[in-house]
Amino acid sequence: MTQMTSSDVPGMGRRQFMNLLTFGSVTGVALGSLYPVVKYFIPPRASGSGGGTSAKDELGNSVTASGWLANHADGDRSLVQGLKGDPTYLIVEGDDAIGSYGINAICTHLGCVVPWNSGVNKFVCPCHGSQYNSTGKVVRGPAPLSLALANIAVENDTVFVSQWTETDFRTGEKPWWT
Ligand code: FES
Repeated sequence: MTQMTSSDVPGMGRRQFMNLLTFGSVTGVALGSLYPVVKYFIPPRASGSGGGTSAKDELGNSVTASGWLANHADGDRSLVQGLKGDPTYLIVEGDDAIGSYGINAICTHLGCVVPWNSGVNKFVCPCHGSQYNSTGKVVRGPAPLSLALANIAVENDTVFVSQWTETDFRTGEKPWWT
């Protein structure tokens, strides 16, 4: 019989989470339903006062702007691991730019991960049908709030994610997530 120690648990959770990120756009329902379970096993990450961290791909490697733009076209919205490991969409704007904001993929209804649907230009939650426009603003319930935002910055080709504490440009209101 294999003996598990408590230190095995975060490792299992992280591997599962990487796999889920990889297939998130295809398996939205499974990803959405599993996310709260997986999230439970991932220890919170230490972050500085600014809360910034480098975006990570599905393998846990830091995302570079040049590498991302080589594989993601204008208008693309694909997931990275952002703050506290939250699945966060990077936005490609034009041929050579990553948008200055990222969109947290956690549905504000009950926490499913919301896939991007380029066919309808919306994020559509597979769990109960909430919809968000291309900036993550809620346009159909039952989700009560828009998807959270994060600041995205590129420094020395590395993509960084940090807390969005400014006014939510979609609503003109203070961010509900801070
Ligand atoms: Fe997204 Fe319910 S969790 S609509």
